[in-house]
Amino acid sequence: MTNEKLPEHVRRNRLAWDKLARDYAEPGRRAWSEEEPSWGIWSIPETEAQILPEVKGLDVIELGCGTAYVSAWLARRGARVTGIDNSSEQLKTARELQTKHGLSFPLLHGNAEEVPLPDKSFDLAISEYGASIWCDPYKWIPEASRLLRPGGELIFLVNGTILILCTNDDENIPASPQMLRDYFGMHRFEFPDSGGQWNSTSATEIGFGSCEQAVLKLKILKNFARKKVPQRVIPL
Ligand SMILES: C[S@@+](CC[C@H](N)C(=O)[O-])C[C@H]1O[C@@H](n2cnc3c(N)ncnc32)[C@H](O)[C@@H]1O
Repeated sequence: MTNEKLPEHVRRNRLAWDKLARDYAEPGRRAWSEEEPSWGIWSIPETEAQILPEVKGLDVIELGCGTAYVSAWLARRGARVTGIDNSSEQLKTARELQTKHGLSFPLLHGNAEEVPLPDKSFDLAISEYGASIWCDPYKWIPEASRLLRPGGELIFLVNGTILILCTNDDENIPASPQMLRDYFGMHRFEFPDSGGQWNSTSATEIGFGSCEQAVLKLKILKNFARKKVPQRVIPL
């Protein structure tokens, strides 16, 4: 999608992430080399967190894949993975790492709120601090639902609601013991110093939050019409 056709927040995010990509290359390299997936700000190993289902043979899409290490972890477990990301610079690192590790899967440059792929193409959609925090939850969650087959699952990792409420506009300042933002009426949070990106706590949107981070699994129980949010929320 050309820059001009992107929604304003997506255009701003693209500019910001094309610049930030340089800082994410090295962590991306390290994560690609990890044998076991790990999650969140404390790098909880998958054996402990048990977030992933059996993915062997599943069609999986990673929404906001960045350097695509989550996709790599899933591909090594036998999934047929596709990644989409809004930043060509992040995808450049992802492609270098695919070559380095001899692992190939499709990487699309685009907006995860409007994925150019047919309905019901995937069994699992996953987002690790990708679409799950940078996209409008009223757009990307219905889009994930559209892409999933009946019985498919959406798994995503976001910043916890309380952490976001206690985080200053300057992200370099540690979280405060006080709430700095309103709990009620949450939808989007601006962090002006990091390129005017915005951050939506999708977890809050659907009534779920935890102290530091939240992992959500949504199960698509039946055939949902476009623009409907999946019904069942399974907090871990
Ligand atoms: C913190 S990274 C997370 C991705 C990956 N886990 C990583 O660390 O490389 C956030 C990613 O979300 C992507 N992103 C932001 N807005 C997006 C959108 N509208 N569609 C797709 N990707 C988006 C950014 O380009 C960036 O690569």
